Amino acid sequence: MRVVSLAAEDDFDGWRDAARALAQAGVPASEVVWQVGDAPADLFGDEAVLAPAAPRPLKVPRAFVDLAQTVVLHADPERFALLYALLASDPHRIDDQADPLVRRLEGMAREVRRDIHKMRAFVRFREVQDDAGARYVAWFEPIHHIVRANARFFVERFANMRWSILTPAVSLHWDGATLSEGPGASRADAPGDDPVEDVWKTYYASIFNPARLKTGAMLKEMPRKYWKNMPETALVKELVASARQRETAMVAKARTEIGGNIEAAWQALRDEAAGCTRCHLYKHATQTVFGEGPVDVRMMFVGEQPGDQEDLAGRPFVGPAGQMFDKAIGAAGIDRETVYVTNAVKHFKFEPRGKRRIHAKPDAGEIEACRWWYAQERLLVKPAMTVALGATAARQMLGKVVTISGTRGRAIELAEGGLGWVTIHPSFLLRMPDKSRAEDEFAAFVEDLRGATKALG
Ligand code: URA
Repeated sequence: MRVVSLAAEDDFDGWRDAARALAQAGVPASEVVWQVGDAPADLFGDEAVLAPAAPRPLKVPRAFVDLAQTVVLHADPERFALLYALLASDPHRIDDQADPLVRRLEGMAREVRRDIHKMRAFVRFREVQDDAGARYVAWFEPIHHIVRANARFFVERFANMRWSILTPAVSLHWDGATLSEGPGASRADAPGDDPVEDVWKTYYASIFNPARLKTGAMLKEMPRKYWKNMPETALVKELVASARQRETAMVAKARTEIGGNIEAAWQALRDEAAGCTRCHLYKHATQTVFGEGPVDVRMMFVGEQPGDQEDLAGRPFVGPAGQMFDKAIGAAGIDRETVYVTNAVKHFKFEPRGKRRIHAKPDAGEIEACRWWYAQERLLVKPAMTVALGATAARQMLGKVVTISGTRGRAIELAEGGLGWVTIHPSFLLRMPDKSRAEDEFAAFVEDLRGATKALG
């Protein structure tokens, strides 16, 4: 039996080095015990991981490394062994989304990402005074070992404050220049209520988004566990009551408030979308596939939802439909670098069939749940022309069910400003068995795209 003692619960480097050496030495997963610290090592007889005389070549896909980096942060004590089991058998199994071990690890990665997002959203600082002036202290209880992995986010977001985040396992301290770590703490070490709460209440009231109002989802997103640390939860009832009236005003105000920093606002939005749980699709998809492209462009393309390859790559229109899309916009004289490309729905919906994941159409509720992201993208990009590719995109763009034949190929004034243009989805062309009809349809698609460019003026 080999015993590997890792330095900490989130010791990815330690796991990676040991796992690589063990896999190269051909040590089966059943022969390895993983532990954190060195407490019970001698129970098993501590055999060092010896470098093999002739190490087996080990080629590890990037996706496996990314997955391992996230899964190592999970609270499940089996995580190191599960990851090693995949590595020692064949890390390329990661491409098989139906593989039970891969599915389990992907599920763990999703839970970790969700916890990372929760910490970013729910940490609340309270002001204390020390010799150097104001310092801000927050208490947070993560589920997984995500605190160190999240440190950079807080350093960047609150670079000019002196702050501490206390958690049961570790404390982070930022003095405006250096990040340091301390031991774990308890809730009693963090200050209680103070006047800073008013600032948070005002802030929360100003960013509270009635368009996102779904009380059930809100409770899920903001579990009661976190409520006691969050002064603004006292406002929720009142905010819910006035939600509808405020929706319209808020959307109009949002762009002005963002000021000149559209790029930063877009990045913050994309980060927020990474933790989206507005509908159930996030549970099985690999990740949120957010829109991409420059935010100061005049033209936005909207597809239906990411496909299998987009789900894995985290980028829209990179699979077969994406290649068709690129070919068609190229033929219409549109440079992809100069347009913003997104989808009506940001998570891949599919049905597993054997080893394959078969595309499933998003339903009305899923399209509706995703409207929030689509509307925010539009607020930032403010496209003069939005091209909807297919019926789902047209529905998202126009806010109602329409047919392609009834709306195709003409400029439509959009309620929020700018023009819309409906055309086919590129995958329609991929499904056509008749080659000459497919060529005609491709030409008509290119003609539509030219028409949309022309209508831009
Ligand atoms: N189909 C879409 O609608 N969007 C993508 O991103 C890929 C395929």
